[in-house]
Amino acid sequence: MRVLGIETSCDETAAAVVVDGHDVESSVVSSQVDLHARFGGVVPEIASRAHVELIVPVVADALGEAGVELDGVDAVAACHGPGLAGALLVGVSAAKALALVGNLPYVGVNHLEAHLYAAWLEQPELVPPLAVLIASGGHTLVVVMEAHGRYRVVGQTVDDAAGEAFDKVARLLGLGYPGGPAIDALARDGDPAAIAFPRAMRDEPDLSFSGLKTAVVQHVRTHPDQAVADVAASFQAAVVDQLATKLRAAADESGARTVVLGGGVAANSALRARVAADAAASDRQAFLPPLALCTDNAAMIAATAWWRLGLDGPTPLDDGVAPGLALPSVG
Ligand code: KG4
Ligand code: ZN
Repeated sequence: MRVLGIETSCDETAAAVVVDGHDVESSVVSSQVDLHARFGGVVPEIASRAHVELIVPVVADALGEAGVELDGVDAVAACHGPGLAGALLVGVSAAKALALVGNLPYVGVNHLEAHLYAAWLEQPELVPPLAVLIASGGHTLVVVMEAHGRYRVVGQTVDDAAGEAFDKVARLLGLGYPGGPAIDALARDGDPAAIAFPRAMRDEPDLSFSGLKTAVVQHVRTHPDQAVADVAASFQAAVVDQLATKLRAAADESGARTVVLGGGVAANSALRARVAADAAASDRQAFLPPLALCTDNAAMIAATAWWRLGLDGPTPLDDGVAPGLALPSVG
């Protein structure tokens, strides 16, 4: 089954064609980063307008690269949440229009579930139970995936998302937007042990990053001569330590033999190295999707739609967008 997926939840306009949830025939991502960089973050109104301009050419590119027309597609999917309302409306409306024109099933896809299913694009034989960390610009969750479509959220951030912390600290350090890749690059030249930044909520399953952000602000204020690379590396080490510790605890608690990363922060080189090392030390498999599948893309939307179609069929065409949508949790 060939699925056309569309993703417009934030600042990437993306479309992809994926067969049977894993065979990627095309994946086109048009980033609006340049439009938002001068504001230091995503401006929702600008994002929506750019999606309207980009959606048709991006979908046409995705179909063209896959070498198919709409009549060669079996279902059309779009991310319907969580995300920016006006941005989501563009992708959902486009997908519904295509579904109507092509008389195809429409599938509204949960963005968080899609970050999780990105792993299957590279590793179709992954089998639950899995311990999963989803860390993006808007969300940070530790999840035990017990079966397809069955998730237990065991911990999540009580304040900032991990990616948001990267973006805010990068802005403070004058590194621009998006902050994650900038800090990741600069941290390579710094000492991760230079500054002992706090690790919050050590003995609880949930996470918190806002105290860490404040600690960085105070440190920079009181140590103006400290090398920026050391601040970046020490901050990154604190985030990575918190994320990896909670993921490992979830794997221990659930008995999952495989750990998986998803979301933009999963592109972080220090996090990937740490999670791989932790898994090796505890005789587990770590699955770290390639960078392009960690950050927002539509291949993950098309893949999730394929699994969701199998689990509960198409989404009615009167379904809307859900900006605050959560990952459905069983407990
Ligand atoms: O999943 P994503 O592309 O979009 C959302 O759903 O939010 O995640 C974007 C977030 C941004 O906060 C960005 O700074 C962060 O992922 N990010 C990284 C890296 N690459 C992207 N954070 C740390 N290290 C990276 N290499
Ligand atoms: Zn995302």
